[in-house]
Amino acid sequence: MDNGSKRHVFIETFGCQMNENDTGRMLSFLKGNDYSPTDVPSEADLILVNTCSIRDKAEQKVYSALGRFKRLKDKNPALLIGVTGCVAQQKGSVLLEKAPYLDMVIGTHNIHNIPSVIKEVSGKKKRVSLTEFYEEIKAGEYSSAAKGGIKAYVNIMRGCDNFCTYCIVPYTRGGEVSRPAGDIIDEIKTLAGGGTKEVTLLGQNVNSYKGEVSFPELLRRAAGIGGVERVRFVTSHPKDISKELIYLYGEEPKICRSIHLPLQSGSDMVLERMKRGYTARGYLSKLELLKNLYPEISVTTDIIVGFPGEGGEDFKETMRCVREVEFDGIFSFKYSPRPMTAAAAFPDVVPPGIKQERLEELQALQKEITLEKNKALVGKTVKVLIEGQTKRNPVEVTGRTSCNRVVNLPSPRALAGCIADVFVVDA
Ligand code: 5AD
Ligand code: SF4
Repeated sequence: MDNGSKRHVFIETFGCQMNENDTGRMLSFLKGNDYSPTDVPSEADLILVNTCSIRDKAEQKVYSALGRFKRLKDKNPALLIGVTGCVAQQKGSVLLEKAPYLDMVIGTHNIHNIPSVIKEVSGKKKRVSLTEFYEEIKAGEYSSAAKGGIKAYVNIMRGCDNFCTYCIVPYTRGGEVSRPAGDIIDEIKTLAGGGTKEVTLLGQNVNSYKGEVSFPELLRRAAGIGGVERVRFVTSHPKDISKELIYLYGEEPKICRSIHLPLQSGSDMVLERMKRGYTARGYLSKLELLKNLYPEISVTTDIIVGFPGEGGEDFKETMRCVREVEFDGIFSFKYSPRPMTAAAAFPDVVPPGIKQERLEELQALQKEITLEKNKALVGKTVKVLIEGQTKRNPVEVTGRTSCNRVVNLPSPRALAGCIADVFVVDA
């Protein structure tokens, strides 16, 4: 799509929903600066690599992407290249030294400054690294209303104060700061006015939201906005889940019956060394309460295998928990030591081969559980918020249930934004 006058930006995004949302924010700040998005890197005047450093593998992907874009700059010297996100924050100006073709490095608290950085680098041919942390969230910094869509993420806070011993996030995203509730509600109203039906309130640890209202009250207000049909939230920390939140699912039908609650490990010894602040029993008893009240609730989790000191018995405890809970989905990872984190200095490292074996064993178990769960839906009618057509078939649409399961259905009509009653025939 070339309208002749505009410049084009291509953004490659790695990592979590926070980064996806940040990419949306970058595009909306750049739109005001006369950049329109393109999917074709070779057509871009500006390429940004929005990076993730949660595991070493994620970080390595960034360097290979930069290598690819360097070749484009060899052909087109006017091309501007920047690195944003967690690796930008972590490495700062070191990246400029390492990669002479890089024009800018923009840290996680400076996304709203992208337009001014671009002015600086394009005018004076200066190279810029901007990685200051700010204690407050500035007005307008998180407004992403321009991005829109049937489903939208809305930031309610940034950063994290938990310092789990494996995690780099408190270093790359800074301390926890909550966004004022009024700003959040205004953003959701704008989104709903533009046709958004589902909002996901987003933060590293949403249950410790500290605005003028409690987190459950914020959810209640979000659900009360006209046009909003569904409200979700990620990510919750098991130690901070309150009874008020648990009971809210029963009071407010627009709060989706699903929760992402990272367990990380089923071994109390490992949980303690991770500094998670709960035991496996503590975690299971909160889930029990949720499942007793709302039997249909879907629960997903994150699990790390091969954390330093994780013995065969510890891993078996994780497997036992997974069998007991029957999660609807698991995001599972091999432990990866990260710079600055406490666990990077822990001894008793688990050998890579054993980490791989444990990961495969866990994933095989979860695959069985997921299939069983999907099969249990066959013959039932579910409510699906239709998101749009699938890529593989022009007369097929796709959407999600309130429990966040993907459902595809044949439909000759574009039903995007509708909530349809769908009879499930296959899993
Ligand atoms: N190694 C492996 N997995 C990690 N995660 C966070 N840090 C690490 C690490 N160093 C996982 C956790 C977290 C998810 C987002 O990524 O499970 O919940
Ligand atoms: Fe990382 Fe723990 Fe904070 Fe989650 S709660 S972002 S795992 S430090």
